[in-house]
Amino acid sequence: MNYKIALIKGDGIGPEVVNEAVGVMEAVGKKFGHTFEFVDVLLGGCATDAVGKSYPDGTAEKCKACDAVLLGAVGGPKWGSDKPAEQRPETALLAIRKDLGLYANLRPAALRPAMADACPLKKETAEKGIDLMMVRELTGGIYFGKRDKYQTEDRGLEATDLMAYSEKEIERIGRRAFELARLRRKKVSSVDKANVLETSRLWRSVMHRLADEYSDVQYEDVLVDNCAMQLVRDPGQFDVVVTENMFGDILSDEASMVTGSIGLLPSASIGDTAPGLYEPIHGSAPDIAGQDKANPIATILSVAMMFRYSFQRAEEANAIEAAVDAVLAEGWRTPDIAEPGVTPIGTKEMGRLIREHI
Ligand code: IPM
Ligand code: MG
Repeated sequence: MNYKIALIKGDGIGPEVVNEAVGVMEAVGKKFGHTFEFVDVLLGGCATDAVGKSYPDGTAEKCKACDAVLLGAVGGPKWGSDKPAEQRPETALLAIRKDLGLYANLRPAALRPAMADACPLKKETAEKGIDLMMVRELTGGIYFGKRDKYQTEDRGLEATDLMAYSEKEIERIGRRAFELARLRRKKVSSVDKANVLETSRLWRSVMHRLADEYSDVQYEDVLVDNCAMQLVRDPGQFDVVVTENMFGDILSDEASMVTGSIGLLPSASIGDTAPGLYEPIHGSAPDIAGQDKANPIATILSVAMMFRYSFQRAEEANAIEAAVDAVLAEGWRTPDIAEPGVTPIGTKEMGRLIREHI
């Protein structure tokens, strides 16, 4: 096959990790007989610097002409929250998610075998294994609701952010979660705050309807505060966790830390039509940018997710994941995951070793 891939290298360590992931793709192409056409797409702080806005006109169209999008990372202190919205990298990230219809964000948090010691939880807890899939609703809720800031007569400035969800939005993300659970350990934990929020009560009622329909899948409701606690108490209990946008933002960072390093975790954002967008869940780490210190594994594993979810190529995905595990099992570590006493290797060397294993 020939695949056309949009590359959004972005800011900070983004370009470095994307370069290694592209190298891995080419190695996979050689082995399995695929070719790639790469299209560079400007988005994020680098776009603000180049053309004055973080989401240049035509960005979505360029991406839509491709089979998938690979994104490194966007953001940095240079384009902080004091800057106008159109210059902030986060604005661009939310816009591309919305414009490509990427309502389902899959964030697997798994303890890789060679990394069991990196789990900050008790040994007994880690030994039970951690392998969960966070399914975060990505184009609705408080992230996209109406915002306002206005002067009041007696309380000074006041601000509001509206959280809204429709049955339709809840149902489509719910279906994704149940379908994924069927391919895994057949359990869905739906996270909400139904004891307080109206949106959560609607969320819960739609999920219950789906739970009846997918009766072969075990289902539970979990309140978001309890979920935050359970993730550090006993993360092994979770298989698929489905939740709304902001809860998912917060819980997926927590889940990632439980597996030892945010530098290892990939993500996929998908909708009902191509292209999906694949990115590491870590940020742009401006403090180490350009120093060959970043961990490229999360981006490389995002490419594995691309093969699995956008191209339905499980064999290629497995080959990438096996190569990563083999390199980790040999003891190679970038600085973020190096145990004391281990001499770390750089971004490029990690990429090269993984390519070699493919
Ligand atoms: C994430 C990030 C983004 C989000 C930010 C950068 C807007 O934290 O992808 O989790 O909140 O969705
Ligand atoms: Mg986040």
